[in-house]
Amino acid sequence: MDSNKRPDTMARITTKELADAFIAQQIEAIRKQVGDKKVLLALSGGVDSSVCAALLIKAIGKQLVSVHVNHGLLRKGEPEQVVEVFRNQLNANLVYVDAVDRFLDKLAGVDDPEKKRKIIGAEFIRVFEEEARKQEGIEFLAQGTIYPDILESDDGIKSHHNVGGLPEDLQFALVEPIKLLYKDEVRVVGKALGLPDGMVFRQPFPGPGLGVRCLGAITRDRLEALRESDAILREEFAKNGLEGKVWQYFTAIPDFKGVGMENGKRTFAWPVIIRAVNTVDAMTATVENVPFELLQHITARITTEVKGVNRVLYDLTPKPSATIEWE
Ligand code: XMP
Repeated sequence: MDSNKRPDTMARITTKELADAFIAQQIEAIRKQVGDKKVLLALSGGVDSSVCAALLIKAIGKQLVSVHVNHGLLRKGEPEQVVEVFRNQLNANLVYVDAVDRFLDKLAGVDDPEKKRKIIGAEFIRVFEEEARKQEGIEFLAQGTIYPDILESDDGIKSHHNVGGLPEDLQFALVEPIKLLYKDEVRVVGKALGLPDGMVFRQPFPGPGLGVRCLGAITRDRLEALRESDAILREEFAKNGLEGKVWQYFTAIPDFKGVGMENGKRTFAWPVIIRAVNTVDAMTATVENVPFELLQHITARITTEVKGVNRVLYDLTPKPSATIEWE
């Protein structure tokens, strides 16, 4: 039987009971596959890698070495949450790599979106490879591949997991415990494993992270403004019942400044663009009709609380003609 094909008899996991049964079955399968060997995993903190890690921790505990690379392009609070949940709560064998300077130095002055993506992907592999070489006795690589990744790719490997580019001498056998699950099932399993809602019901976030939202050449000051404005947007959407209702929402900051006023003085600062969209498959998207008063409130907060920002714009463009991300 093709192990990458979901059996027709497999019931959709929609309840805690079904999730618990899946977890028990996978724990047994993982233990059988891995034995007493060590497994390496790149833990981004996204839904798929987090659920994969939590499942492996349940099955083999500290035999799983999770590597969290902080590339400086994560949202506010994300690296801290990974450490809190995995190291402190789940007692995981977690290697936290602060690679912020490495990534930002490599990205300095690069304004072409495709080049930025390539640099982020290549540097990620380099950092992960260095950590892999420091570990002894690793025989397996775990990946949070899910069923749509298999359906969408020819070779069944999730390319944006970024560990597909490891050198020849670091080719491990793969452990992919959630590869037959759809996204909604991954979330049900994640909840049953006790992961926090903020991790399990997280909105989609691109691999290159805030790198595609800090437009043009990335600078540390704009990246900071991006992180802070995104945190305000998320907080206000959560407070006003839009979290979980709107498919994806975030801020982007272009690489130009405009004139403004503060305390009677002229300012020269960046605009922040708000994007909030709904979609089924991300191929097309419509813009959320956010209440105007809420947009005004968010604007007031961003312009007073975020350094270096004097305007807020709302992106009214559906996909197409726009894409969801600005890049
Ligand atoms: P676009 O901008 O093409 O985005 O309309 C469609 C969806 O894909 C997300 N996106 C990514 N997701 N790795 C990911 O896992 C990536 O490199 C990546 N780039 C874009 C984007 O956030 C949107 O949800």
